[in-house]
Amino acid sequence: MAERFDAVDVIQTKRDRGVLSDAQIDWVIDAYTRGVVAEEQMSALLMAVFLNGLTRPELNRWTDAMIASGERLDYSHLSRPTADKHSTGGVGDKITLPLTPLVASFGVAVPQLSGRGLGHTGGTLDKLESIPGWRPSLSNEEMYAQMDEVGAVICAAGAGLAPADRKLYALRDVTATVACIPLIASSIMSKKIAEGTGCLVLDVKCGSGAFMSDLDSARDLATTMVGIGSDHKVRTVALITDMSTPLGLTIGNALEVRESLEVLAGGGPADVVELTLALGREMLDAAAARIDDEGIPGAGVAAGSPEASRRAGQLREADLPKALSNGQAMDTWARLISAQGGNPHADLAWATHTHEVFARENGYVTSMDALKVGVAAWRLGAGRARKEDAVQAGAGIVLHAKPGDAIQKGQKLMTLHTDTPERFERGLEALKGAWTIADTPTTRSPVVLEKISE
Ligand code: URA
Repeated sequence: MAERFDAVDVIQTKRDRGVLSDAQIDWVIDAYTRGVVAEEQMSALLMAVFLNGLTRPELNRWTDAMIASGERLDYSHLSRPTADKHSTGGVGDKITLPLTPLVASFGVAVPQLSGRGLGHTGGTLDKLESIPGWRPSLSNEEMYAQMDEVGAVICAAGAGLAPADRKLYALRDVTATVACIPLIASSIMSKKIAEGTGCLVLDVKCGSGAFMSDLDSARDLATTMVGIGSDHKVRTVALITDMSTPLGLTIGNALEVRESLEVLAGGGPADVVELTLALGREMLDAAAARIDDEGIPGAGVAAGSPEASRRAGQLREADLPKALSNGQAMDTWARLISAQGGNPHADLAWATHTHEVFARENGYVTSMDALKVGVAAWRLGAGRARKEDAVQAGAGIVLHAKPGDAIQKGQKLMTLHTDTPERFERGLEALKGAWTIADTPTTRSPVVLEKISE
């Protein structure tokens, strides 16, 4: 079959700072997914996009073409509105675990399709797999049924969602084209739009432990993704949040599940609680606004009807802190974990070996570098270097002090956990210079730095 375009012409257009036509974009993504556009040609095009960017219409079309490469899920038959959260990834970021059941406990269904960790940032599926029996893979039918019955799933994104992204991401990884805002934004948003959520709250991390280390680029990424979401009729807002310091006091799979359970029991570290509540508030507000605009078609609730305004009002008035303290969110957690074969009451693994790190001076902790702590936890066995590696459920780091805390010489600063003690040396090496202790306290930086919406 004759192809509609020549890849060289498409590359040349972008190389010369031209604007790609809709037909060129549709063709090049489809032809690359089919194996007609060669890897070296797509490499050249990705580099041209990296250097010259994409206009908003081009980026929307590029995202559409990625979505069209696979299946698109549809929850319009559900009797509840849907809202999801996506985080660009950080150290100690376990927020999905308390947030999903919290939001679902108010009747907003959460289709959380998650991934595994690679490098220093952890993956939600790896964390949940430390719960005995829990299984990450669900068929589409199982997902739909669980969304109806429990109101949430946390599971692996199937191979059918945006397959073009899988190929493109692997190629970007080896062509120095990962750190490119239009390519990151289309990669994330194609998967989230194909997943079928009606509302999306983005947690765009900013700081040493994040993709985007400075506020300007985090803002740029957040604005770009919010634009794609809005143009695709997904109600999207973004919070830019601090990732210069790990979130909470634990980094590592089972360690983070335990901390999430503390949050679901009404306790837990202040920063984890604050971010869970902030993202939960945004998800419920977005779902309420969607009910105002569209009603809940699957429940027969028409936009503008008294029932629509009652349901939207309930979400706007939802008392999120109370749902953490009175067991409402914990009940939904137990149902969510059980529905996927897990035992919510099972004991979680502990690593077999620990090593404590002590403060060498009196003073105040003024920084705790997220990247260094994340790399150390990874080296201890909490993360993987290659996709096929296994992770240790119990490995990781427990912090005993965070920026803003006073500390005495000889006091425990952190505990390293691993099943393979020969890893301590490399873990400790990664921690060199990870914290600073000064004579005067610093003020803790807020977790939520900015909100971006259209
Ligand atoms: N996460 C994704 O899914 N894609 C990117 O390009 C970067 C982060």
